[in-house]
Amino acid sequence: MTRAREHFDGADFPIDSFDVDFREQLAALVRRRRDVRRFRPDPVPEAILEEALRLAHLAPSVGFSQPWRFLLVEDEAKRAAAMASFRRANAAALEQTAPEDRALYARLKLEGLREAPVQMAVFCDEETHTGRGLGARTMPETRAYSTVCAIHTLWLALRAHGVGLGWVSILEPEEIARICAVPEGWRFVAWLCIGWPQEARAETPELERLGWERRLPLEKLCRRI
Ligand SMILES: Cc1cc2nc3c(=O)[nH]c(=O)nc-3n(C[C@H](O)[C@H](O)[C@H](O)COP(=O)(O)O)c2cc1C
Repeated sequence: MTRAREHFDGADFPIDSFDVDFREQLAALVRRRRDVRRFRPDPVPEAILEEALRLAHLAPSVGFSQPWRFLLVEDEAKRAAAMASFRRANAAALEQTAPEDRALYARLKLEGLREAPVQMAVFCDEETHTGRGLGARTMPETRAYSTVCAIHTLWLALRAHGVGLGWVSILEPEEIARICAVPEGWRFVAWLCIGWPQEARAETPELERLGWERRLPLEKLCRRI
């Protein structure tokens, strides 16, 4: 594919767009996002966290339902219970991993639960009346998709400040809902570890650098029909 810059570089397109420098910065932000699993203990300024959450809250959502619910988990007992849930879920995942992959799997660091100064459990309110069900009747899962859109916005907004985010999904969803004491209709979506990364972020995902998986060619995933 040709680079967008060569084709869309200015005044020929009198539409509401951003300039070339911004687009290059946006591309760099997306390329250098990374899932972070090793954190420094230094606190993340509240102002950064609040700004990122306010941007996440601008994410698209089905029927404008805004179903995301962010819980900042500060209680040490709750954090320890999440860590215990990870240990159980990860031990089960290791057992279910193909025998030839087990040694590599066991070496992967798949969470930053011990060290991340900010931890956030994100839920989707499946019973929200906001948006009055518009768009979600045939595909109720679109509420969870909306929540994921908000998480991705949060990820990029934090990354823009240099703050790292690591998504932990190797957890027991029902146990996490219990730990967080959420209402019945809330579905667990993500546990997010947030903080300053220990190391500079590479352009390549850690799972690729460690030989677990490679990025597929886009051409294999995108075609005209
Ligand atoms: C839905 C979702 C769940 C994920 N769960 C985990 C997880 O439990 N542990 C982990 O280390 N990384 C997790 N990740 C991060 C992925 O491993 C990571 O995004 C992928 O390897 C690509 O790397 P990158 O984010 O640095 O580009 C998750 C990412 C997503 C989107």
